[in-house]
Amino acid sequence: MADKTATLTIGDTNLELPMYSPSAGPDVIDITKLYAQGNVFTYDPGFTSTASCDSTITFIDGDKGELLHRGYPIDQLASDSHYLEVCYLLLYGELPSAAQLEDFESRVTNHTMLHEQMMNFFRGFRRDAHPMAVMTGVVGAMSAFYHDSTDISDPWQREVASIRLIAKMPTIAAMAYKYTIGQPFVYPRNDLDYAANFLRMCFAVPAEDYQVNPILSRAMDRIFTLHADHEQNASTSTVRLASSSGANPFACIAAGIACLWGPAHGGANQACLEMLQEIGTPDRIPEYIARAKDKDDPFRLMGFGHRVYKNFDPRAKVMKQSADEVLDLLGIENNPVLQVAKELEAAALADPYFTEKKLFPNVDFYSGIILEAMGFPTSMFTPIFAVSRTVGWISQWKEMIVDPKMKIGRPRQLYMGATLRDYVDIEKR
Ligand code: ACO
Repeated sequence: MADKTATLTIGDTNLELPMYSPSAGPDVIDITKLYAQGNVFTYDPGFTSTASCDSTITFIDGDKGELLHRGYPIDQLASDSHYLEVCYLLLYGELPSAAQLEDFESRVTNHTMLHEQMMNFFRGFRRDAHPMAVMTGVVGAMSAFYHDSTDISDPWQREVASIRLIAKMPTIAAMAYKYTIGQPFVYPRNDLDYAANFLRMCFAVPAEDYQVNPILSRAMDRIFTLHADHEQNASTSTVRLASSSGANPFACIAAGIACLWGPAHGGANQACLEMLQEIGTPDRIPEYIARAKDKDDPFRLMGFGHRVYKNFDPRAKVMKQSADEVLDLLGIENNPVLQVAKELEAAALADPYFTEKKLFPNVDFYSGIILEAMGFPTSMFTPIFAVSRTVGWISQWKEMIVDPKMKIGRPRQLYMGATLRDYVDIEKR
């Protein structure tokens, strides 16, 4: 219910627009009747000032550098909770009791295998395919396999689709990786936790025993946790838009994966590590800083800047600390890439170009260093992000389906093309 109004004056007409106060964050002006009452559209490329939905899942205060899931700060969740508990929190709104958590973890664990016929999909790809291309295809293909969980009007089917996606995504990502390196698929093991199982599926081979290093599985779990949800970002909005037509849930998540792949979004972690490796030594940092500042050079510092965080990205702080810990525990001393990252961060933060534009390291600046130390190739960084973010996409999708205000997403446009004209026969053109 509107508690205030905003007045918009267009020529001689004053329009009273309802305003709503959220539980946190700035007030919003309701413009849904603007076209009907004022015959105008709003114009907001990139949706920089537009709230597209109501949500109770995640809150970000970009000025304070705050990220809350259902009210709980990300740094507390990263240090005290674990990924599947955070999944439960995102999906159902509250932290679980011990019995609820056990039941949830067991349901996820029991859905980790893929339909055996899905293996044929992997084999249809070239070995040099990017794992994100494979994941987009295979997750889309799930819509042809799990017909008993695609009726989105049935809450039970929505629940089963959610659990299936969270459970199978690590298996799909790991198999996409194994396929590209020509190794046999490693099937999931239900005696391992979510992160340990993923590491085993990526790194075990039939010829040898594989022991999961608990330090690495904890670090993996933390990476999953830090990427679990981030309110209405590009891939989540893609999932919401795709689902707004009532589309198959697996196909909608495949759309989210496709969006995440881009270097301005989830692809930044791969691009960032490649950039740090290309810089190579600290003495080349000034050259790259200069390029990032040069308006005529399209180069940007990858892992720097964020649409919402204009102070710091709270996930980057935890990630930086994790990078130090993991490299330390693995006995990797004087890692040159970490050295370049730290000096690049310090140089950028001492430069008015970056501080004035409020450009700070984002979650992806340090995540690649950890993943590389664990043995992942850069091409697996974004698939790991996709595994983590699946719960966010699903939670937002479930919220949207039951929202009585839900409509098919259909933005308007500022049309700048030709106006009505008559067709010209080809011989007269
Ligand atoms: N390096 C250099 N300059 C930058 C950078 C950067 N990384 N990011 C933004 N800028 C500059 C822009 O050139 C622009 O300058 P101008 O005002 O003089 O034209 C200004 O800062 C604002 O940039 P926009 O692109 O308008 O900001 P937007 O909010 O649209 O972009 C984005 C945010 C896409 C994250 C951007 O900062 C970027 O491209 N960063 C690098 C890619 C990256 O790390 N992405 C990961 C995002 S986090 C995630 O998805 C998990």
